[in-house]
Amino acid sequence: MYRNRLLITEEQIQHRVRELAEDLNKEYRGKSLDIVSVLKGAMIFTSDLIRLLEMDVRIHFLQALSYSSGTESSETVNLHFTSVFDIRDCDVLLVEDILDTGITLDYLVKHLKENAPGSIRICVLLDKPDRRKLNIQADYVGFQIPDDFVIGYGLDYLEYGRQLKYIGVLDRSEYEK
Ligand code: IMP
Ligand code: MG
Repeated sequence: MYRNRLLITEEQIQHRVRELAEDLNKEYRGKSLDIVSVLKGAMIFTSDLIRLLEMDVRIHFLQALSYSSGTESSETVNLHFTSVFDIRDCDVLLVEDILDTGITLDYLVKHLKENAPGSIRICVLLDKPDRRKLNIQADYVGFQIPDDFVIGYGLDYLEYGRQLKYIGVLDRSEYEK
């Protein structure tokens, strides 16, 4: 496991996920929600969140590959769909692990809008506002965090660290070699 220091505890995450679910339960009460979860980083957040939702929910996955290597974002996004889904006139919630530069979510929202959803909102576990390159905001944010590279609860460094129950800041010695 790559060295990291604790930033957000398991208990803090679970508490915040419950609060987000309560907000969503109010907002979408009596409706049917189409969740589009962005693999792989959002898988754990998505699976915890959906089990707390009370409205009818359908889950879709897509994969957005934007990281060419390690900790720096590349500016192109390659989209991989794992299922074909029709979201025309549906209420869509895009669920992502982290909003960083905004390039990935901006791209995904534009792409999903081409399929004429009834509404589309964004829910992210983490938000790094200092890193934003595009003007995009999430409607639901778990935690705002400083400009540090984090792992855990689905987020990876070179594919490792997703299994951690907490969020930790990756030790700089791991990538400044
Ligand atoms: P953006 O397109 O720059 O907003 O980057 C979003 C994607 O970059 C996320 O889906 C993550 O996969 C990845 N990412 C950004 N920051 C981090 C981080 O601190 N840890 C792990 N992955 C990150
Ligand atoms: Mg990701």
